[in-house]
This record gives sequence, C-alpha cells and structure tokens, in this order.
Amino acid sequence: MKGVILAAGKGSRLYPITHHIAKPLLPLANKMTLAYAFDALKGMGIDEICVVVGENEGQMKAALGDGSKFGVKLSFVRQTEPKGLAHAVGFAQEFVGDDSFVLYLGDAIYDRGFGEIAARFRDSGCANLNLVKPVEDPRRFGVATVEGERIVRLVEKPQNPESNLAMAGMYFFGPALWKVLPDLQPSGRGEFEITDAIQMLIDRGETVLAAVYEGAWFDTGTLDSFLETSRFLAGDAPVVAGQLSGDASDHVVIGEGADVACGSITDSVVLPGAKVKVSGSIRRCIIAGNVDRDGDIENEIIYGE
Ligand code: G1P
Repeated sequence: MKGVILAAGKGSRLYPITHHIAKPLLPLANKMTLAYAFDALKGMGIDEICVVVGENEGQMKAALGDGSKFGVKLSFVRQTEPKGLAHAVGFAQEFVGDDSFVLYLGDAIYDRGFGEIAARFRDSGCANLNLVKPVEDPRRFGVATVEGERIVRLVEKPQNPESNLAMAGMYFFGPALWKVLPDLQPSGRGEFEITDAIQMLIDRGETVLAAVYEGAWFDTGTLDSFLETSRFLAGDAPVVAGQLSGDASDHVVIGEGADVACGSITDSVVLPGAKVKVSGSIRRCIIAGNVDRDGDIENEIIYGE
C-alpha cells in the first residue's frame, strides 16, 4: 500500500504567514505539520508517499527533499488548479499504479495509530474504507449514512445531515477509484468532491466501508484551529525552544532560534527564527518574522517583514 498526501492548498485562512511559509510546513509543537502525516503513514507500514503540491511546489520540495530525513520515500506531483480533492488525487494515479493507497489530508492531525484500520481495509478487499467520526455539527463536512459497516450514502456539507458521522480526512482506496474519476462532475461549489467519487463507487455496487474513529482529530486551517491543535500537541505549559523574556502562561510555543521580549504571552505560537518585541501582552496570536509593536496584540496572525 502507498500513501498520497494532499498538500496543495493555499492556506488562505492563515494569511499572511502562509504567503511566506506553506501551511504543511508550519511547525505544530515544534514539529512540522507534515511530519505528523508521515508518522501516521509509517505506523501503517507505508513509506512510499506522493505529496500533491500546488503553488507551494518549490518551497515544499526544498523543505522535504526525498523524504529520507523523515524516514519516508517522497515523490511530488502538482495539482494544476485548485479544483477539489478528487481532482487533486487524480494527479497521483501514475504514482499509485495498480496498488491500493491511503489518501491523507495534509492538515489533519490525529492522536491514535491506524494499524488496525489499515489491516481491516487490506483484509476486507473492499473498494474503499473511510474514517468517520461523530461530530456535533456535521454540516461543514462530508456526511456518511452507515448501515452495519457499510456506507450507503454520502453528502458533502448537507444542510440537513442524515447522521452525525463526518468524513474525517482519511480514505483507503483500491484501484476502483480510478474508474469513477473521469465521470465526476463539479459540485455546487465548483469542486470535484471526493465524497461524490465515493458515492459513485457505492452507486456502481462497490463495497464502501466506514471505520469509526474514536480518537482526537484536528485540522490546522484557521487561527483558532491552529492554536487548538498546538495546545493539544504541546500541552498547557510553555514550550520554549528559543529565547523568551516576559511572562509566559497557558499554552505558548516558542520555536527554535526565536527571540521574544514582551510583557506577557498567552495561548500563542511564535515560529522558529522570529524576532518579536511587544511592549504589552500577546494573546492568541501566531507570529513569524520581525515584529516590533507597542501595546497589546490579540487574535492576530502576524508576519513581520
Ligand atoms: C473536505 C471534504 C469533506 C471532509 C473534510 C474533512 O472538506 O470535502 O468531505 O469531511 O475535508 O476535513 P473541505 O475541508 O475541503 O471543506
């Protein structure tokens, strides 16, 4: 089995930092976001991985190389336009060949291993098995209707969800996927949806299974979710790999080589190498680059040039 990681997104909800640093390369608890994906795949016995990149191609290749420093073998393909997950995965078809593969959304973070789920996929011989997780508000996800162990219906971001089971960002596929992709039509939001591709597999009589995930699952796409994920991984006590003068409390991560001088810093992440001088307090911020400010800063994503 191989691995395909989708990492082409612009990370626009983390602008301006992601204008300068590709989102999959941002450190979480001082470890690169994608390194968590590599570890999850290695835990399933997968070390041949294709990373689907976009405009971030140059930076991604430079940072990740051939993958040897992460203990994986990497190749890259470029998604030419941002047209959805099913569009992105199509670029990895040649890499996957006749093999089966795990599709992993590059900004997903999980706290449990997937060895058993991968084994279940392999043993079942099904066309597709998907991670699903009960969530409070399923309307912002793909939503699965499950009967027994099978998914019988899937809807992307439904107004009136039939269940509380969200598609949780990890998909196991056999070769049947490649037969449906050419027939896919763009959705209402103009994207080729992976959920629609899976619905087509169901409609064509393929076996599509659900694996309910009981662990924690995060994505890192927004200021709030980035800080929440960081807090989950780093814990509440400050993690200071650089220099800090000022009071730090309640979830703070200071990256290597960073130098921070402030009154106080709370619930914030300072990226490696940043030089930060703030006369007041820093609260709920992600900071990179050279920043010199008077007063307090709060709820900001800052890239100081
Ligand atoms: C995508 C998928 C959706 C899935 C979600 C998981 O949504 O389309 O089915 O539940 O990822 O994070 P997007 O993040 O593109 O809105």
